[in-house]
Amino acid sequence: MQHKPSSLFTPYRLRNTTFPNRLVLAPMMQYRATDGFVSDWHIVHLGKFALGGFGAVMTEVVAVEKTGRISCGDLGLWSDEQIVGLKRCTDFIHSQGSLAAIQIGHAGRKASTRRAWEGSSALTQEDAAKGDHPWQPVGPTDVPYGKDFPKPHALTIKEIERLVQSFAQTAARADRAGFDVIEIHGAHGYLISSFLSPITNTRTDIYGGDRKGRMRFSLEIATAIREVWPKEKPLFFRISAQDGGGPEGWGMEDSLAIAPLLKDAGVDLIDCSSGGIQGSATVQNTKLGLGYQVPFADQIKNITKVPTMAVGLILTPEQAQDIIDSGQADLIALGRQALYDPYWPLHARQHLSPDAEFENWPVEPGWWLKKRAVAISNFGLTPSGSPVGKFEPS
Ligand SMILES: Cc1cc2nc3c(=O)[nH]c(=O)nc-3n(C[C@H](O)[C@H](O)[C@H](O)COP(=O)(O)O)c2cc1C
Repeated sequence: MQHKPSSLFTPYRLRNTTFPNRLVLAPMMQYRATDGFVSDWHIVHLGKFALGGFGAVMTEVVAVEKTGRISCGDLGLWSDEQIVGLKRCTDFIHSQGSLAAIQIGHAGRKASTRRAWEGSSALTQEDAAKGDHPWQPVGPTDVPYGKDFPKPHALTIKEIERLVQSFAQTAARADRAGFDVIEIHGAHGYLISSFLSPITNTRTDIYGGDRKGRMRFSLEIATAIREVWPKEKPLFFRISAQDGGGPEGWGMEDSLAIAPLLKDAGVDLIDCSSGGIQGSATVQNTKLGLGYQVPFADQIKNITKVPTMAVGLILTPEQAQDIIDSGQADLIALGRQALYDPYWPLHARQHLSPDAEFENWPVEPGWWLKKRAVAISNFGLTPSGSPVGKFEPS
């Protein structure tokens, strides 16, 4: 017998696009591209989350220009040739009934670094000898990201205008690659975020100064993307609701101010992250609480009425369901928990509403698991193989 699906598994509609459930794979850099091109790794990596039941599978951040890569292993979509590989990813994701989402961005002054497990430090001539050639980053000013980071080139107005067009051109390519959703990476101290923050944007021209000037780049990018991105497809914006720079930085009041302006520019949902203007947004040394960023999603959604996605240490089905049920966010993004268990949505659904028929699973495993459920029922186990009431991701 099929139980009523939990609210996590109810569809969600934005524009003319329906998310089959509320679970989205968070963007996660893999460092497995060469010259920005997709490798087999990306197809299998992203594909497994579609098999696992995520309503939408989002790519890692994909660079809009070659100099906008964080590392030499980043994906890119700055040329038409890069469409083919991404289309292979979207085709497989669609074949499993999930939506394909792409995060696009530019690393700004945090570009030209080593991979995370190599320390995310600036590339040097030593790396060049191994084929990872450093390049000069760009930023709102020429102030480097940190002591051992190269001095960025301070973007001229003409170059900023060109970058806005690069975002739009990448968006048009993303459409041709079959993506259903675009997310603009406006968080974590990368280029867009560094224009928003008063700590990193000390420009005195129209792209700096007061909050209105600092928001201009973000809003122009959203507007330019909307001009080429089909009307029926949603556009997300990932924000650092607090940029990690303390009281001097971009904070919640600023995020509440930009959300409706982004909406007016054609953004449909704010993905609420935080940090990164100084130090890493994910590799934090402080102890973070479960769902530590959910209050940002809650406030933006309920004060500005712009839909939100919550992310950050969301681990259990009950926790995720409670965020949706209590109206704190519209969608849930899972990062590291999905790396641990790519089948998290299917496992969570079994846990919340056990289904001995395995109807929501792809038929290839589902047909067999149905037989297995009968075989293990003698042992007092649920169809998932767990004792009743226990959630055990694989
Ligand atoms: C391996 C890895 C790579 C990441 N790459 C990106 C990225 O490309 N873009 C981005 O906005 N966030 C990135 N993040 C941050 C995640 O999207 C997410 O916000 C963060 O991990 C917190 O969620 P979690 O606790 O569910 O992992 C990355 C995180 C991890 C673990």
